[in-house]
Amino acid sequence: MIEKQPEAEYEKQLACIEEARLLAEAEARQKGRPLFAHIETFGCQMNARDSEKLRGILAKAGYRDTENEDEADLVIYNTCTVRDNANQHVFGRLGHLNGVKRKNKDMLIGLCGCMMQEAHIVEKIKKSYPFVDLIFGTHNLYAFPELLLRALRERKKVIDVRDRMEYEPEHLPVVRKYPFKSGVNIMYGCNNFCTYCIVPYVRGREFSRKPEDILDEVRRLAADGVVEIMLLGQNVNSYGKTLDEPMSFAKLLLAAAEVPGIERVRFMTSHPKDLSDELIEAMAENEKICPHLHLPAQSGSSGLLKRMNRHYDRERYLELVRKLRAKIPDISLTTDIIVGFPGESEEDFKETLSLVSEVGFDSAFTFIYSKRSGTPAADYPDQVPDEVAHARLSKLLEVVKKGAEERCGRFTGRTEKVLVEEVNREPGLVSGRTPHNIVVHLPGDASMIGKIIPVKLSVCHGFYYSGEKDGE
Ligand code: 5AD
Ligand code: SF4
Repeated sequence: MIEKQPEAEYEKQLACIEEARLLAEAEARQKGRPLFAHIETFGCQMNARDSEKLRGILAKAGYRDTENEDEADLVIYNTCTVRDNANQHVFGRLGHLNGVKRKNKDMLIGLCGCMMQEAHIVEKIKKSYPFVDLIFGTHNLYAFPELLLRALRERKKVIDVRDRMEYEPEHLPVVRKYPFKSGVNIMYGCNNFCTYCIVPYVRGREFSRKPEDILDEVRRLAADGVVEIMLLGQNVNSYGKTLDEPMSFAKLLLAAAEVPGIERVRFMTSHPKDLSDELIEAMAENEKICPHLHLPAQSGSSGLLKRMNRHYDRERYLELVRKLRAKIPDISLTTDIIVGFPGESEEDFKETLSLVSEVGFDSAFTFIYSKRSGTPAADYPDQVPDEVAHARLSKLLEVVKKGAEERCGRFTGRTEKVLVEEVNREPGLVSGRTPHNIVVHLPGDASMIGKIIPVKLSVCHGFYYSGEKDGE
């Protein structure tokens, strides 16, 4: 198990940031302008949280953030390897960066994240994309300051990818995307080995952060103006099992909700096999825990679920949904679904469609199965032809959309507490989210950002609402 980042290691990384800042400052002086960094995040919320740390470190090192990678002095791609299309996207973007770097030889290009935890990818980059300057993985994010300094100082390729995490990265400086909400990693890795999934191979074995460390972080966030937190892990329902003193996820959730200043707690992702009655009870009883559950079903066919190694069947999933709705009647349920898993028959697919209709999801992320080398399913016979998988995806999307539109309407006329997140592109409007995670647009201005206000949800537009502040 990993300890909290020891002070000495933390101090060392801070010293590296300071040295990097001096180097960057010298370069900026020479160029007669500030230096810019562009960070591109692929994949999940955990990567998004990691990127906030990259951004925090780079800000302390004197880099300004830019959306435009072509004008950046430093570009970092924080990659995802769950599906092949994300990988292909990264390679495509690298091709473009090669051209940019030809014109700007000083540009530093860094790659990190899950793709870098795969040895064959690192080999490919070394061979085919030699202009990449810095490569590191998910396990040594904590050492980014040190690696950045080496890349800046030595101006030669730096590659450092580890098999396991030595220090948690949680104490690094952070620049949050939103001042008022934040993700909080509560665990790393995954032990489930769903047969299609690469995550257990790249992110390693599951381990939980200590509750006192997590709650310390939540307190620090609250003191910094955060009102909504999202507890993050690949399988939060098994939180605490690896601790010296085991603790359930429900208890952690309740403790996080108790932190003064925290108004809303969300979490992601729940595995149906580990969803406990205690968690359902906690969600039903505690007003701060948002009534939204992301519960990936993956398929509606028991046979396929077995071959996916999901440890539940269709009936068990539906039973969970019944239990949840009995305790939390209007809970929002969202899910992930894969089509085209090897051996998926027309019959299996129909069962997925019928599961979607029967449950009534508020929304669903739908994916075409992507073969990941090294996973058991990559060697399964009966891989589904592309055109069949695409046709199934279109059909599934139709059914998901129809169901989601029907569900979304249930709030019409109700007043809900909305956390205002941003000004809308349309002048005079702001946008926010209800506890059920439904987007609402309402008249307002930037002064409302970060505030939780009662909003009457007047008109449902399929997946979102327009409303107005209640009580005016
Ligand atoms: N192909 C397609 N989708 C996948 N997912 C994970 N691995 C694969 C794969 N090989 C999906 C699952 C998971 C989500 C994060 O990504 O639905 O819940
Ligand atoms: Fe992948 Fe399954 Fe672990 Fe989720 S629970 S990360 S799908 S192996």
